[in-house]
Amino acid sequence: MTVECTLTVNGSRTVVRVSPSDRLLDVLRGPLALTGTKEGCGAGECGACTVLLDGKAINACLLPALEAEGAEITTVEGLVGPGGRLSVVQRALVEHGGIQCGFCSPGMIMATTALLSSNPSPTDAEIRDALTGNLCRCTGYVQIVASVKAAAEEMRARDSVDAGRSAREEERPVVRSGVAGRAGGG
Ligand code: FES
Ligand code: FES
Repeated sequence: MTVECTLTVNGSRTVVRVSPSDRLLDVLRGPLALTGTKEGCGAGECGACTVLLDGKAINACLLPALEAEGAEITTVEGLVGPGGRLSVVQRALVEHGGIQCGFCSPGMIMATTALLSSNPSPTDAEIRDALTGNLCRCTGYVQIVASVKAAAEEMRARDSVDAGRSAREEERPVVRSGVAGRAGGG
C-alpha cells in the first residue's frame, strides 16, 4: 500500500507516493534522486544520513517520510548556491583537509551547518560534541574541527560586514528624504 506524501525539500514542494514504512532517507535517495545524503549504518549511529529538519540536524534513516510532512527539509544539495557556489561550511572542509574519501562529508556538513546557525562561536569541545553522532573513518577529526572553526570565523566576519552595510543602508533614507524634501519644496 502506498499513500501520498508532500515534502518540502530544499525549498521545493513535491508529492511522492510512499509506503508507511519508507524512511525519509529512502525517499530522498530514491524518488527525489538526492543522493548526496548517504546511508551508512541505517541505524542512527554514523550520521552519514544527516539532513536538516526545520534547521535541526536529524538522521534521515530513522525518520519515517510521512513524519516529515509539513517540515522544511534541507539536504546537502540545498546548501549549494547559484552557479554551484559552495557554502562556507562546504568550502572550509575542502580547504582545510576535512574531506578525504567524502562518505561522511554530507552528514558532517549538515551537522556543522546546524551547529553554526545556533552557535556562531563554538569551542573545540562544542564542535566535537555537536559532531559526536557523525563518524569519520579517514580524517581523525582534527582537520574537521579546524574546518568548522575556519567556517565559523568566515561566517562571523561576513555577518559583521553585512551588519555594517545594513547600518549604512538605514542611514540612507534620512538623506534621501532630505533631498526629496528639498526637491519637492522647489
Ligand atoms: S545511516 Fe543514518 S545514522 Fe547511519
Ligand atoms: S572523509 Fe572518509 S569517512 Fe570521513
